[in-house]
Amino acid sequence: MLLLFIFQLFFDFVMTAAIATSGDNRVEQVHLSLSGNMNEMIVTWLTQSPLPNVTPFVSYGLSADNLKWTSKATTTKWADEGEKSVHRYTHRATMKNMSPGQRYYYSVGSSQAKSNIFWFTQPDPSQPLRMAIFGDLSLNKGFSIDPLINATHSGDLDIIIHIGDLAYDLQDDNGNVGDDYMNAIEPMAAYIPYMVFPGNHEVSHNFNHMVNRFTMPKNGVYDNNLFWSLDFGMIHFVSLNTEYYAEGMSKETKAQYEWFVDDLKENKAKWLIVLLHRPLYCSTKSAKGCHDPQDIITREGNADFPGLEQVFIDNKVDVVFYGHKHTYERMWPMKHGIPIKSEDSSYIKNPEAPVYILTGAAGCHSHSGPDDSIAQPFSIARLGNYGYTKFHLHNSTHISTHFIDTSDNIGKPLDRFYIEKQ
Ligand SMILES: *[C@@H]1O[C@H](CO)[C@@H](O)[C@H](O)[C@H]1NC(C)=O
Ligand SMILES: *[C@@H]1O[C@H](CO)[C@@H](O)[C@H](O)[C@H]1NC(C)=O
Repeated sequence: MLLLFIFQLFFDFVMTAAIATSGDNRVEQVHLSLSGNMNEMIVTWLTQSPLPNVTPFVSYGLSADNLKWTSKATTTKWADEGEKSVHRYTHRATMKNMSPGQRYYYSVGSSQAKSNIFWFTQPDPSQPLRMAIFGDLSLNKGFSIDPLINATHSGDLDIIIHIGDLAYDLQDDNGNVGDDYMNAIEPMAAYIPYMVFPGNHEVSHNFNHMVNRFTMPKNGVYDNNLFWSLDFGMIHFVSLNTEYYAEGMSKETKAQYEWFVDDLKENKAKWLIVLLHRPLYCSTKSAKGCHDPQDIITREGNADFPGLEQVFIDNKVDVVFYGHKHTYERMWPMKHGIPIKSEDSSYIKNPEAPVYILTGAAGCHSHSGPDDSIAQPFSIARLGNYGYTKFHLHNSTHISTHFIDTSDNIGKPLDRFYIEKQ
């Protein structure tokens, strides 16, 4: 017994020494993101140990056997808020002077350990755009993950936007839940940009994991991934952090609001899409639909928390996407809850107000469908399937969306809908 104990001590000592010298420098959780400059691509990855005396980098090129360019990464050491206070190392590098439409190959790491070779096509803003938009996805009931990986590799998608609530939760189990999720989505996120912003499940410790695991476009206010905008040819995207409202963060809410109003003043794109986590409108079990205090204040606002709907109307936002409720619902164009109905609910011409789409059905522990809600007068379609929304920018006059079923009849398009704008 004693001998065994001594042996165990010795073994532990040797193991500790081995970890201290070599460390776990394996590259994990590789994912791409857009910077806002269409000639750049950002790659972000993580190691569980520091990389003393070596500089991490990305090497990239036009073929897998000639990664002739390199770009150095910057490293952030950060602490998880769990009881073990685990430290992780996030590495970020920007590939520059990229040509839209060109296929690139890349590998990330350091002289100690490198990743496999991945590839991507630099998005081309002069071409039609296909995007997956969804919220509320984890590995538990993550029905949409494999279909999204498939869609990525069959060339059906240019960008993925995950509109809050990732992994349930990134920080759980000392951050291991986040690591497992980010590794599981690498087969898509290392091949097309994976854009994010926070939902209510990312608020822990001042959005610690959202700030430290990702690299979103800078907004010039806080530059911490929580809200951003992106110009992509004919389309302008803005993501806003509704958790500032829900968390009672008035100063940040006002700063975001002022930034948003200024951002829209500069916008010249034909199409304007807003992305939120919390819904402004939806059908629920209640006859009143979505009316949590957080939803109402985000929509209507007050002196300390300026509301968003009037800005959407004034600036002619085309579509507002959100999640949070774990289902899919599409609504008529709407002003202050009053639907503006027209002849064909699947083909709306020159809408006079923003269209609202709830797309929180990608896959998580709980799910709901039409049986769990009372249809509001503004509701067009409610679905019970798991899945994600596919958004399509066709050209200067047409956009469309449809829902991709990922639970019942995998890959089946449902609720196809067009907006035509002259
Ligand atoms: C992914 O694609 C493969 C090969 O085409 C197919 O066999 C598989 O069923 C697909 N899986 C999903 C979840 O779509
Ligand atoms: C724009 O896209 C729509 C939908 O695909 C198509 O019907 C229309 O003909 C296109 N317009 C032009 C000018 O190509």
